[in-house]
Amino acid sequence: MTIRTCIESDLPELKRITLEGFEGIAFDQNIERQFGILNGKDWRWRKSRHIDEDFQTYPQGCFVAEEDGVILGYITTRVDHEAGKGRIPNLAVDAAARGKGTGRKLIEHALAHLRAEGMAFVMIETMANNPIGQHLYPSCGFVETGRQIHYALKL
Ligand SMILES: CC(C)(COP(=O)(O)OP(=O)(O)OC[C@H]1O[C@@H](n2cnc3c(N)ncnc32)[C@H](O)[C@@H]1OP(=O)(O)O)[C@@H](O)C(=O)NCCC(=O)NCCS
Repeated sequence: MTIRTCIESDLPELKRITLEGFEGIAFDQNIERQFGILNGKDWRWRKSRHIDEDFQTYPQGCFVAEEDGVILGYITTRVDHEAGKGRIPNLAVDAAARGKGTGRKLIEHALAHLRAEGMAFVMIETMANNPIGQHLYPSCGFVETGRQIHYALKL
């Protein structure tokens, strides 16, 4: 398995992995369950757009894990040089490739990138209904710093 920088032609596969991986746990899907389709766009559209936004904003911080030309998963990062704050907005591994350490290696790769960029700290978040993140992130050294409640109002 190798980890390389993401290129634009990877995006459709990254979105496929994302939509499959976040089915049932996506924040945007929670909203849809309560309010239905909003503005004619479903949660898949909104979640896919996050990947485009990560790539457009900071392509050099988006990484893909691959084996024999097959994409296993990906991770995206953001940097705020003024605050010294790095962020990991999105991470997913293809269902068929999970449980083999790919997610952990992607996190380590992202952390090395953010350190090299001079970030003083890094933040990642997970939904309360996602037990994997709550196990994986502390085991990579992340410490819980707060819990947030999300509210939405249909207009
Ligand atoms: C989270 C995700 C990226 C992990 O990828 P992965 O390649 O399977 O990760 P790894 O193999 O490196 O490690 C997974 C860890 O989670 C643990 N894990 C797996 N399923 C779990 C579960 N249901 N509950 C708790 N821990 C679980 C594994 O045991 C492993 O921990 P260990 O190394 O201490 O044994 C992958 O499961 C995924 O894409 N999930 C859907 C999308 C998602 O949740 N993304 C993160 C959003 S916050």
